[in-house]
Amino acid sequence: MSTTTLITDIGSLVTNDPALGDGSPLGLVRDAALLIEGETVAWVGPARSAPAADTVRDAGGRAAIPGFVDSHSHLLFAGDRTEEFNARMSGRRYEAGGIRTTVAATRAASDAALEANLLRHLGEALRQGTTTFETKSGYGLTVHDEARAVEIAARHTEEVTYLGAHIVPPDFADDPAGYVALVTGEMLDACAPHARWVDVFCEKGAFDGDQARAVLTAGRAKGLTPRVHANQLGYGPGVQLAVELQAASADHCTHLTDADVDALASGSTVATLLPGAEFSTRAEWPDARRLLDAGVTVALSTDCNPGSSFTSSMPFCLALAVRDMGMTPDEALWSATAGGAAALRRTDIGRLTPGSRADLALLDAPSHVHLAYRPGVPLVTDVWRRGRGAV
Ligand code: NIG
Ligand code: FE
Repeated sequence: MSTTTLITDIGSLVTNDPALGDGSPLGLVRDAALLIEGETVAWVGPARSAPAADTVRDAGGRAAIPGFVDSHSHLLFAGDRTEEFNARMSGRRYEAGGIRTTVAATRAASDAALEANLLRHLGEALRQGTTTFETKSGYGLTVHDEARAVEIAARHTEEVTYLGAHIVPPDFADDPAGYVALVTGEMLDACAPHARWVDVFCEKGAFDGDQARAVLTAGRAKGLTPRVHANQLGYGPGVQLAVELQAASADHCTHLTDADVDALASGSTVATLLPGAEFSTRAEWPDARRLLDAGVTVALSTDCNPGSSFTSSMPFCLALAVRDMGMTPDEALWSATAGGAAALRRTDIGRLTPGSRADLALLDAPSHVHLAYRPGVPLVTDVWRRGRGAV
């Protein structure tokens, strides 16, 4: 039998199972305890009826939440884009073309440097409560550089996305069709064994609807499930294409028509909102309220990348979503945990219920509401991942 750890005296515990708690979508249990057995949650309930355990940890009245599920990041890169950020803060607009700066730095970096950079950002994220993350290739854009990106990523997460279609690289500037052929051919063959997802940046200046469809259907034929960078910088076909192809998620969703919202509401595709990008590009906020009111499943993620959103902090993104996107603190917490799990089609994470993975964070606060109420304050004090103390 695996060893057991009881975390007791939890002031408020978010389970994300309405049946377990107070009936709210967060399934809140007050004065709670949680039993970990091996890598999974074995029991949750009121502290007064908790079972015995090998080890007992007193949470001292703190709040406990499921570990954050960051379902959208770009962590296989080298270099940074401080100058571009500086220029933007002096009034220059964000453009997709900045990606080329990172492509050059990434191609020039060794495998060891790329992996060290990835680990540095994963450490940051973990200390802020992220226990699951998805990450993408997309700054290599050659067969060799994309393949090494997904290989390195797969050493550290099962949620790896092939994003060879991030932008047409300068070496193919005169032959975008040739680049799409590479992305859907030799590059896909090299990357598919290491990835679970295929993604495309469907946007003016990147890939149009037809090109995006070609990339996603080719990926699907190789066993990858689509997710789409859609409607970030302007209106476009990305969201409706994502729904049509039953993509797991349409990401960004900043510029949506009523037809886009209707499509999301009628399909199974999660809308993943990335407020770090709007913060850092000074763009208008995605309207989370509109999506939630239409019945769309919404996830929140960091989009951590050196260009448009250089933050690994889920608490920061959650605070932005509450302050500027019309989400309540409860909705934002749900979207950053259970919503992220839905965007990754996972049922074992993003919740704290018997049988789920023992991925959780303790907050130096009486409830999860403080994540938005006290923005920028490092509230995460302890993190367990797969049942083991990680922070
Ligand atoms: O999700 N939108 C495309 N890709 C990234 C930006 C990448 C970059 O600027 O380096 C994003 O925001
Ligand atoms: Fe992104």
